[in-house]
Amino acid sequence: MCGIVGAIAERNITAILVEGLKRLEYRGYDSAGVAVLDEAGSVQRRRRVGKVAELQTALADEPLLGKLGIAHTRWATHGAPTEQNAHPHFSTGEVAVVHNGIIENHEVLRTQLKELGYVFTSQTDTEVIAHLLHHTLKALPDLADALKATVKQLHGAYGLAAISVHQPDRLVAARSGSPLVIGLGMGENFLASDQLALRQVTDRFMYLEEGDIAEIRRESVQIWDAAGAPVERESVQYHEGAEAADKGEYRHFMMKEIHEQPTVVQRTLEGRLGQNQVLVQAFGPQAAELFAKVRNVQIVACGTSYHAGMVARYWLEGLAGIPCQVEVASEFRYRKVVVQPNTLFVSISQSGETADTLAALRNGKQLGFLGSLAICNVGISSLVRESDLTLLTQAGPEIGVASTKAFTTQLVALMLLTLSLGQVHGSLEEGVEAQLVAELRRLPTRLGEALAMDTTIERIAELFAEKHHTLFLGRGAQFPVAMEGALKLKEISYIHAEAYPAGELKHGPLALVDKDMPVVTVAPNNELLEKLKSNLQEVRARGGELVVFADEQAQLSNGPGTHVVAMPHIIDALAPILYTIPLQLLSYYVAVLKGTDVDQPRNLAKSVTVE
Ligand code: F6R
Repeated sequence: MCGIVGAIAERNITAILVEGLKRLEYRGYDSAGVAVLDEAGSVQRRRRVGKVAELQTALADEPLLGKLGIAHTRWATHGAPTEQNAHPHFSTGEVAVVHNGIIENHEVLRTQLKELGYVFTSQTDTEVIAHLLHHTLKALPDLADALKATVKQLHGAYGLAAISVHQPDRLVAARSGSPLVIGLGMGENFLASDQLALRQVTDRFMYLEEGDIAEIRRESVQIWDAAGAPVERESVQYHEGAEAADKGEYRHFMMKEIHEQPTVVQRTLEGRLGQNQVLVQAFGPQAAELFAKVRNVQIVACGTSYHAGMVARYWLEGLAGIPCQVEVASEFRYRKVVVQPNTLFVSISQSGETADTLAALRNGKQLGFLGSLAICNVGISSLVRESDLTLLTQAGPEIGVASTKAFTTQLVALMLLTLSLGQVHGSLEEGVEAQLVAELRRLPTRLGEALAMDTTIERIAELFAEKHHTLFLGRGAQFPVAMEGALKLKEISYIHAEAYPAGELKHGPLALVDKDMPVVTVAPNNELLEKLKSNLQEVRARGGELVVFADEQAQLSNGPGTHVVAMPHIIDALAPILYTIPLQLLSYYVAVLKGTDVDQPRNLAKSVTVE
């Protein structure tokens, strides 16, 4: 989604801004721009539709030099992805603004500003902020004061940064619903919507909190909280290895991240397993006490993280006997929800900044949940900060827009939650916890075995390259895995893919099946296997081509129109984690064959910080 970078220094900052934008490219965007205050004291900009590389070419043709500037990658919401709509937006050539988020009352403000004589050159909600700030500066000449007054008139979500030709020694920023971080340097300071953008210039960061306004100068940073009081925000040193920085031996980040799964699953388990049981304190010191009171679980998440939640429902009810509901955050947040007593609210998110999931958590807090647990990959995210308990997945930065390693580590975390709740309540069957703990320890090896099927899956991908539609089938906890497989395929190869619980086939979707509609099935060796085999017959009888990922002991064999890929044997409870791997590989290879942009699929963003 949109990205912000800002800088104030004693050196030329254009290259820093552009490098920051490049580091935010993975988030998905459709245009990019940069505005710099030049030596003559006027603000100049370059904007381009398309990749940051286009902007770099524009800057090579017509360079911009300056010591203060802001830059942006835009993911279109209001107005098409055109150069006019790309940020930074100007007001009268005196004020420049970049903005992430959505201003809901932009139409009313636009009308008022037009009446005041402001001329709009874009269809964006952001241009309204630039003119409003310019107008406010007439009465309040200090940029930070004017910004404080401006944001009071905005309804919606924003992370924004602004500069003015009249105050060349500062950059101002405001956060409400869209994250911002200040990067602290020596005699220079920076701003970004994600610290990854600034890792080339600093490893010291200060995170703005909701409602904060910041004034950033070369030698100082001043922050005011939502009530307008000056506040200090803690600065943190970031020590993460450079693992996300490049693709290593891989052609795409997605493939690198798929192959990291044995390592990151291992890391997510580290320090969380005792000899025969899960260490409940991994969820925090108050976890055991809180878990003892839990009678129900409500899971809320979006996209891939929602699919992880759906798998967890099978585990929580099937293994721990705890009633569980799962809902997509964008529905949950706007629905009248009846909360059962003693319900634990669990949010799942890779980024911890997904607008709908955050809003659902905030609503949840008003609804009388027993407490909140965030399963998240980013320790410094809003979701983590606002939840009572946290279990961090240790997937490391995920750069590919299509989530892979975040999903499998979420599943591991959710299995730890299931076993912890079962342990605290004594509701697990005898020996189950010890067995699953032992199997979890073996899981990284199993995942490595599944990854070794790489070339087989690459061959199978050829079946899909010319197809336009696909069905994914699964039963039980493999149904959400099928949903995740379908999501991956549609996201990166743009092939229409739908997932169904296999038993639903004859209630409608079977009508679609013919030789042009391949059907992908995940078939571990469990009590549903025989029923699944009948469903597969139904597909074959209609000429549908089958790709079946089946347990090596499942006694399914290749035949005309049936491609069986033997999977390493695994305990049924952990099969959803293992069977995810071939589906990720399949969508990856189909996308490569189709020549799509694997890491940055069209129209999508990595972190969905707007509704
Ligand atoms: C799909 C994908 C998305 C995210 C969703 C939630 O590959 O990545 O569906 O899962 O946008 O994002 P997080 O987990 O960051 O809340």
